[in-house]
Amino acid sequence: MSNTQHETHETAKASPKSSNGHNKSAEPSILQEAAVGLFDTVKRATHSILHLGDKLAESTATGLLEDQHTEVKALFAQLEKGHANPRSVMTKLADSLAAHMVIEQEIFYPAVIAASPDLVRESYEEHAIARFALKRLMSTRPTDPSFKARVTALRELIEHHVDEEEDDLFPKAEKALGDESPKVYAHMKSVFDQKVKLGFAKLVGKGGDAVRSAKPPQPKASSKKTRQQTKTAISG
Ligand SMILES: [Fe+2]
Ligand SMILES: [Fe+2]
Repeated sequence: MSNTQHETHETAKASPKSSNGHNKSAEPSILQEAAVGLFDTVKRATHSILHLGDKLAESTATGLLEDQHTEVKALFAQLEKGHANPRSVMTKLADSLAAHMVIEQEIFYPAVIAASPDLVRESYEEHAIARFALKRLMSTRPTDPSFKARVTALRELIEHHVDEEEDDLFPKAEKALGDESPKVYAHMKSVFDQKVKLGFAKLVGKGGDAVRSAKPPQPKASSKKTRQQTKTAISG
């Protein structure tokens, strides 16, 4: 043992005792308690920052639309597996799908059409076919022999459309929106919340024309005009 090690060993042995006879070095010192408190604070702050990061990551225009796609897919799965109350699932599906088509046609597609005009025009056409299939399904009783076939036909149509949006259109759209994406997200979310309360019948069904009225706008050529087009779509 070196001299220094020897001294340290001796000092430890001679450490003062508290009034109750316990070794003071075994009790948490003020410094130790402060360190633990600081560690907890840093841990909580790190958690909040990470959570905020998650929230910001979700707050993109395409993030919102993808979340809605996921919800619609889950409702299709419930219908196809067989649900105790298929009519309630159908209503939820139709309301969500109709409101989703409204925000895409009235806000999202006009804001991003310049990024991919052909894909956006194709999307309007696919929505028109989906609207027809959705109306057909909503007028079908769950006991009808064609019910399951109509659910499957609409689900396949939506799946094809969603795959094209998520794989081809959305990456181009996010790039084109850039910093405007959270604003488009906020506008779409607010309009979706209003429209979904109106429900399928008012949006697409008998007398509903909110989805029907939306037509593809002409994409603008210059980047200045594209930005203006995006701002118009955002402000509604
Ligand atoms: Fe769509
Ligand atoms: Fe979509």
